[in-house]
Amino acid sequence: MNSEVRHAAQVLRAGGLVAFPTETVYGLGANASSAEAVARLYAAKGRPADHPVIVHFASAQGAFEFAREIPAEARKLAERFWPGPLTMVLKRSPKAKDFVTGGQDSVGLRVPSHPVAQALLREFDGGVAAPSANRFGNVSATTAAHVVEELDVEFVLDGGPSEVGIESTIVDLTSGVALLRPGRISREEIEKFLQVKVKSPDSSSPRHSGGLERHYAPKTPALLLPPHELDAEVAKRGDTVAVLAFSKPDERVDNWIRMPREPHGYAQRLYAALRELDGAGCETILIESPPDTTEWTAVKDRLTRAAG
Ligand code: TXA
Ligand code: MG
Repeated sequence: MNSEVRHAAQVLRAGGLVAFPTETVYGLGANASSAEAVARLYAAKGRPADHPVIVHFASAQGAFEFAREIPAEARKLAERFWPGPLTMVLKRSPKAKDFVTGGQDSVGLRVPSHPVAQALLREFDGGVAAPSANRFGNVSATTAAHVVEELDVEFVLDGGPSEVGIESTIVDLTSGVALLRPGRISREEIEKFLQVKVKSPDSSSPRHSGGLERHYAPKTPALLLPPHELDAEVAKRGDTVAVLAFSKPDERVDNWIRMPREPHGYAQRLYAALRELDGAGCETILIESPPDTTEWTAVKDRLTRAAG
């Protein structure tokens, strides 16, 4: 892996794109300080140019050089959760250019914990702009094979399946503390740790594509159903559907994936399961809705978006 990491860092330095594993999902990386490299990144993803990307670093020290104001809460969060599945939005420093911030006055910063991501970021020794390694609007990739399936990338580092399975928690610290995207690190955990109220984004919050209604979506239309409606829908639609559920497979449906009743295990498998069901060529994907408890917030957020 060492020589591959060295090669990947060279590709980045030369302005190329490298897909790499993180503990959340795979990222598609480019040198965050090169306008040409980032332009190539947007083109590969099919992503609109005004959507900001997250810049990744090996350490908090590097990350904070891209910010001009570091509130005490940000330092505390960095100490507690970095490296890890947390992204912080901070007021940008001159090092964070318009082409990574989408022209906004803030920048998204993250220090991933995956050992391969860490090795790459240390070897590259700079900021790596990395959106999730999928085409814009599609579900994220959690294996190297997912990346190769849908993107044309010069080099892919394979670090095995992603452990968390859904994208990082995004917290905006440009004015107070606001949760822009739920993830493995929950609002409750952050509130308890910081002893502050975490706001929900409002109309003054920065734009974030994860906030678009239909995002993280399979191509097959998906329908999110309360558990008691699943059976009737299956009876009505028969084998035209694929099903993602907690309950045991129903013999009327060929493409049925049974999911863990525990949110971390569920999140870990979610995108691979959606990709598999999406590939089954059915008319609709029926998704049995998880419970309405706070531990399911992040998974529910992605399911709701998948169902448009
Ligand atoms: O787990 C993750 O965060 C993965 C891995 C690869 O690190 N990355 C990821 O990137 O999910 P992406 O680009 O697919 O989603 C990043 C989200 C987008 O919704 C983007 O708009 C938002 O972060 N974002 C980035 N910078 C921002 C900023 N300055 N203000 C508000 N939102 C921002
Ligand atoms: Mg994404």
